[in-house]
Formats: sequence, structure tokens, C-alpha cells
Amino acid sequence: MSRFLLFVAVLFLFTGCGTPTSNSGDSEMDVFVSDLMKKMTIQEKIGQLNLITPGGGIPTGSVVSTGVEEKIKTGKVGGIFGVYGPEKNRQAQQLAVEESRLGIPMIFGSDVIHGYKTTFPLPLGLASTWDMELIEKTAQIAAKEATADGIFWNFSPMVDVSRDPRWGRISEGAGEDPYLGSEIAKAMVNGYQQGNLTATTTMMATVKHFALYGAAEAGRDYNSVDMSHLRMFNEYFPPYKAAIDAGVGCVMSSFNDVDGVPASGNKWLLTDVLRDRWGFDGFVVSDYTSVNEMIAHGLGDLQAVSALALKAGLDMDMVGEGFLTTLEKSLEEGKVTEEDINIACRRILEAKYKLGLFEDPYLYFDNARPENDILTAEHRQVARQAAASSMVLLKNENQLLPLEKSGTAALVGPLVDSRSNMLGTWAPTGDFNLAVTVLEGFKNVVGDDVNIVHAKGANISDDPEFAKKINVFGPKIFIDERSPETMLREAVSVSNKADVIIAVVGEATEMTGESSSRTDITMPPSQKKLLKELAKTGKPLVIVNMSGRPMEIVEEVEMADAFVQMWHAGVEGGNALPDVLFGDYNPSGKLTATFPVNVGQVPIYYSIRNTGRPQDGDTFQKFKSNYLDAPNSPLFPFGYGLSYTSFEFKNLSIDKATITNNDELKVSVEVTNTGNFDGEEVVQLYIRDMVASITPPLRLLKGFEKVSISKGETKTVEFTITNEDLAFYHADLSFYAEPGEFEIYVGGDSNASLASKFTLK
Ligand code: BGC
Repeated sequence: MSRFLLFVAVLFLFTGCGTPTSNSGDSEMDVFVSDLMKKMTIQEKIGQLNLITPGGGIPTGSVVSTGVEEKIKTGKVGGIFGVYGPEKNRQAQQLAVEESRLGIPMIFGSDVIHGYKTTFPLPLGLASTWDMELIEKTAQIAAKEATADGIFWNFSPMVDVSRDPRWGRISEGAGEDPYLGSEIAKAMVNGYQQGNLTATTTMMATVKHFALYGAAEAGRDYNSVDMSHLRMFNEYFPPYKAAIDAGVGCVMSSFNDVDGVPASGNKWLLTDVLRDRWGFDGFVVSDYTSVNEMIAHGLGDLQAVSALALKAGLDMDMVGEGFLTTLEKSLEEGKVTEEDINIACRRILEAKYKLGLFEDPYLYFDNARPENDILTAEHRQVARQAAASSMVLLKNENQLLPLEKSGTAALVGPLVDSRSNMLGTWAPTGDFNLAVTVLEGFKNVVGDDVNIVHAKGANISDDPEFAKKINVFGPKIFIDERSPETMLREAVSVSNKADVIIAVVGEATEMTGESSSRTDITMPPSQKKLLKELAKTGKPLVIVNMSGRPMEIVEEVEMADAFVQMWHAGVEGGNALPDVLFGDYNPSGKLTATFPVNVGQVPIYYSIRNTGRPQDGDTFQKFKSNYLDAPNSPLFPFGYGLSYTSFEFKNLSIDKATITNNDELKVSVEVTNTGNFDGEEVVQLYIRDMVASITPPLRLLKGFEKVSISKGETKTVEFTITNEDLAFYHADLSFYAEPGEFEIYVGGDSNASLASKFTLK
């Protein structure tokens, strides 16, 4: 019997009672954790609050570097992340379980953001599917693959609402809307955890980054945030809360400040809101060294900021070791109490208990699983489906698409044959070598019928200094040895021989993501030039944009006959694109973040409030709220996306003209597929509160359903509106609906115009 199992057996025999600091209500767990904590020294308790990553150099063989090994053996590590494989992780766990004094197992985490090895489209793309079942399924697959590889704690979902495409991490979330963001948060937590943390195929989820990280000023990563409480509660908090209501096990604090105090040391945020108001009972982990970073924020030295974080309600310190190195001193000096440390320690032990680690610390380390569970044909099939349904058709003049499976197609652009850019940002567990390129995908899907010719045409960027910044994790921008002119000439000559040009352009993987903010979100000049040359050939031009953010693409959309927003579509993206372009899949994606006309319109989003001087129409009017040099409306609004078929909405009806607070309102609408293809439509329902005590948004998404409708068929789609859909937070943060008139709009995007109205008494 290992020392650990002996220890557990002794604990179970011991019938002491729990301590009163528990928050779980699970008495067996309380007793267990209390008994364990009675045996722990203060150093061992602080050790549980320490999260480490051995970094890139995690050795095979002896698992971890000496320093880390020693820390684990001496009970100074509660969790570890970034180490992969059941065998390696078993060895690391053995150090904790068999060689530390109390044998407390560690938790093993990772960032599994859009799939583990089976990489799905990046989250902004996945969100564009508006398909909650599919999103949940991708999270389920991610959990199955990650746990097969010894990872059972995930730093996902990232649910930060963002309305600023300059911010690189807009790619990592669900876009601009709190309602849609909440539904996606729920689907992802359910997919990862499946209501059963001890199952060997589920993992504990972490909702991040709490809070408001997506509202960094000027879209610059890690920048300050300053926002009214009204806006926080109504527009930015809902997805975090939805994840908590769905039972998420962990919350990660964000890098930014909130009300002047960095999130990692913000008691109002981490305790008053998160625990007291929302009832969260899991643990809070910091972001990477975000405790230490409070020194740079100007909140004091390491000891001061570590004490601040603990007292604020932060339980686990990621990488920075401020807790490990200063909390004992702070305890001696009375700056923190033993109870502060106990509370945090208990929360982490509870998470371990819920994960089943005290019953079997090796639960997730089964050497046979990687081969059976990772990157299976079935998983790849879901990835292909997800990629196809994440793509958004933004323009399709003269029904150029779907293309005929015949003739010659010229595939042109720096992203046609660029494996290392297929997965997208934040896919550290993926392997781009496994990805299908666009060129390969075309050969797979239509290679027998279509003559495919290809040219790179341009570099993603010609600027070597820019390329250096993008290539930090390996080459993503390859600057060709040939001159830009030679490449252009080749592209034009190849295109002249083709019946149609498909230009695959956009961003390299690392042009979005963490620390990848841009002030200029246009197509890099090298690619713009290429597109102009291609347009000049007069051949039908399909532009496919691979990007992790909404870009400024007015010119590109204008010169294209058809335009597809592809995102970075993951391991099967290369197959999914021809599935879409040749009509094996009829596009159904809808934008979840507004595409601006230009970057000057940012922040831009559909759910705006009226000013006292609203613009009437889209022409400039003096002394109205508008711009001299750009319209107020975006290039493409939230919810927008075309299909190869068309849909008509009619007969919007409501079951009551007047409702009271306890009533439900039934809304129904008929949707007819009036085109020539079977297709899917995302039926969207928006509500406007006509008069309220605080300026109400002009419309808010309050329901959606993705329905598949055969050509010629009509389906009735029903929605139920409850009082909660009409309620909002008031200045005193009370949440209720105000009586009065409401308008409903139903349609295929946020400009939906089919309307009805009702009154709340
Ligand atoms: C990111 C987090 C991530 C963490 C650990 C940080 O830089 O902000 O989202 O979970 O690193 O990898």
C-alpha cells in the first residue's frame, strides 16, 4: 500500500468533525477536508496555494527539473500545468503522493481553448456557428482528449465580452454580446464538466478572465479598464455568471484593474460579487503572475500584493510564488490570518476531492487512452463540421457560390498552403503538422473534378520586423526569397488560366491572440496589393479571409464577387473550406462581433443606447451624433451571415398583448426557405424596452434558434420570453423589469425588422 493510500485509509477511520469554514454543504467532503487540514502545517497549506509550470523544458524521464521536484516533495505545490502525457503526469503525481509528507495529490491543468489535439475553429469562429449543441460537443471532445493525456483541469472557457477588434484576444471569446456569450459559456462548462467531475473523461473548467478583460482601453492587451457598475452588470458580467450558474469549478482572475484595483487583489470583485452575490463555491486562480504584477500596477511590494490577493479572495497563485514566499511572513506580522490561508487551502482541497483525486490520484493517467481517445476519425469529423459551420458568407454576388465542381480554380494567397497558420492562436496542445492545408483540402474534396492551380502571390507581410514579432513561437510569416513582384506576376499568370480565383488571405496565427493587439486592422499591404491585381484580371474572385478578429475589409469586400470569413478554422479547416465553397455544406455562420467600416468606429456593437441627438438614417447631420468621415453603421452587423438559399420571415405573432411579471410570453414566427438549396438559418429575437428609468439599449438579443429548413419548406419557430429577459440591473444593482411597452424584432441578423409589441403591466 502506498503511503498515500495508507494515509487515506487512516483518514477514513478517523471520525473527527469538520471545521466551520467549509462552504460546500457536502458533509463527507467537509469531514475529509477538515481532517486532512488538521494534519497540515501552515507551510503545507500555503503549498497548496501554489501553481507551477515547469515551462518548455519539462524533461522526459525524471518529469520535472530539480527545483520543481523538490518543491513537490516538500509539499510546496498544489497544482501543475503545461505537462502532458499520462506517464509523465503519473510520475509527477507520484512525487506528490508518494514522497511528500501528507501525500496530497496535485491537480494537472492546461489551456485547452479550442480543442486538445483535435483543434476546432478558434472560439470566435466557434461562436459564429450559433450552435450550442455543437459547441458543447467540441468541449466534450476536448475534455475526452485532454483527460486521456493526463490533464483534468482546463483554463477555459474564456468568456470576456469584447467590442474592440483591436484587442488580439477577441479571437478567444464569443464576441460582443452578453446573452449569446452566456449561452456559449454554459454550453462549454457543460461540455467540459458534464455534471460529473469524477468521470475520467471530464475535466474541471475555469471561467476567465474575471473580469472585464475584453474591455481593455484602446484594445491594448493588459491595459486598464474603467467602467460603470451598470455596464458591468448588464453587459459584461452575464457570461461569467452563466458559467458559475452552470457549476464551473474554478474562476481565473484577470490582468486588468477594475474600479482602480487589479482584479487579482480586488475584494469587491472576488468576494462581494463572486461569492456573496453569485454564490460561487469553487476556487479562484490568478492569471499568470498576475499577483506579482500588482507591484507594477503600483500596489506595493510582493509581500503586500500577495496579502492583498489572499484577503481579496484569490486562492491559488499561478507561477509567481508570491504566496509561497511571503504569506508565512505576513501571517507572523498579522497581515493575513491563519483563517485566510485555511479558506483558500480548503477550496483547493475541495476541488481535488470533487475531482476524485483522494480516492484515486492516478485516475486520469491511463497509458492506453491517448491512442484510443485522441484525434480519432470521429473527432476530426466533428472538427470538420464545426469548421464548415463557423464560416460566415459575407457576400455572394450573382450567386457565384457554390462553385461548380469542374473547370480550373486558381488558389492564390499566402494562406493557401500554410500549415502553421491553420490552427489559430491559443492552440498550445494542438499540432499544426496534423492540420489539413487549404490546398490539400481542395485536392481531397474536388481534386478529381477540378483542375487546381496555385500560387502564393504575396507574403502575409513583407515587413521583416513585423514578421519577427509574429514568429515568436515558430515561423508563421515566411518572407519568400522571391521578390514581391515575381510572386505577384506568378499569381496573375496562374489566375489568368483559371475560371475562378479563390484568394485565401488574412492574418497569421499570431496576429491575434494574447499580446497581439493591432491599431491597424486592415489587410497587410502586401496582400491588399495582391487582391487588387487579382481583381484586375476580371475573373470571378472569391476572397476567403482567415483571421482571428473582425478586420477592416471594405475595399476587399467591394472587389470580391464572393467573400467568406473563414477565421482560423482548426485541424480540419482545409477540408471544410471546399465543403463550403463547392456547396457540400451550405454556409450558416453568423457574425458575433460587428465588422466596422474602419477602426475609428471602435468600440462598435449593435446593442447601443440612443443619444439625445440620434442620427436619422446614415447621412451626416450637423449637431447629431455622427462622424464627418464615416457612417455610424458598421460594414457588417452582429448576427449577419448569408446562405446559398434565402429565408423569408413572416407571421410574427405573440400569444398576449399584455403580460404581468409572472407570465411567459410565447412568440412565434414562420420562416420559409425561399431559395434553391436546403439550408440552416439562425432565427434571432431582439427586444427593445421602449421607456425605462435608465437609457435602454435599442435592442438586445434575447433568443435564437438555429433551424435547418429544406428548400420550399416553412418552419414555425417559437420563443418564450420570461420576466428575466425583460429585467436589467439598476443603479443600485437591483435586477427587475420595469412595466411599460416592449418591442420585439425577429429576423436573420441584428437589423431584423419584422416587429411586434407587448406591454408589461
Ligand atoms: C493567459 C491565460 C492562461 C494562462 C496560462 C495567461 O497568459 O492570460 O488565459 O490561462 O496564461 O497559460
